[in-house]
Amino acid sequence: MEKKRLSKALAAAGIASRRACEELIFEGRVKVNGQVVIVPQTLVDWESDRITVDEAPVRAEEKKVYYALNKPTGYICSSTRLGRKKIVLDLFEGLGERLFTVGRLDKDTEGLLIVTNDGRFANQVIHPSSNIIKEYIVKTAQEITPEYLEALSQGARVDEKWVRPVSVAKVRKGTFRICLKEGRKHEVRIIAERARLKVLELRRIRIGSLLLGSLPIGEYRPLTEKEKAGLLEGKKKPGKPA
Ligand code: URA
Repeated sequence: MEKKRLSKALAAAGIASRRACEELIFEGRVKVNGQVVIVPQTLVDWESDRITVDEAPVRAEEKKVYYALNKPTGYICSSTRLGRKKIVLDLFEGLGERLFTVGRLDKDTEGLLIVTNDGRFANQVIHPSSNIIKEYIVKTAQEITPEYLEALSQGARVDEKWVRPVSVAKVRKGTFRICLKEGRKHEVRIIAERARLKVLELRRIRIGSLLLGSLPIGEYRPLTEKEKAGLLEGKKKPGKPA
């Protein structure tokens, strides 16, 4: 990793201005690997040097990144590897940032997933108060009839809470679209099961105003500033049939 001057490294980590960081160093308040360092030009790197200011550890300020991924089936949303199971972060290998998924999709679900290293953003997006609607396309073994749609629209009990879809509509013979505000585990599968439908494929195509679009399966792209801002508004109405 590239070595940086101590004063510059502290400023980049958001401690204070470069000048003010030099003052902290001159005052003997900065330690590198447990030793007081009073020379601002001392070269350090974040990987091998432990830096503290007034005994509090300082970490490199990571550039915040935001991606939309078209998750393939077969990958789990976990930040730690469980045995030999494939995890979504395998698809981001080599990026170097400490990434995590914003919410989860089941192993057998494909589609739109946000991946970031910004915990605050992730919490805002998944918090129920954000009211962000998620839209899914579901292929079933049965042909979708008005009776099935009625049963789906009732919702189901998921984790002790009754979850009712925002909307449900037939897309074609064996396919329906469902929009939900909650973000509960297996909710679409549980609602479909209660309606006595067998799910063959489940794909998320929208999170709030963010659309999956034509992103190929297994690929990701950075979110635009506009998309990021739009997600936090989270007020978009259910979309038109896919
Ligand atoms: N609902 C489900 O049942 N599975 C998902 O992956 C997402 C929503």
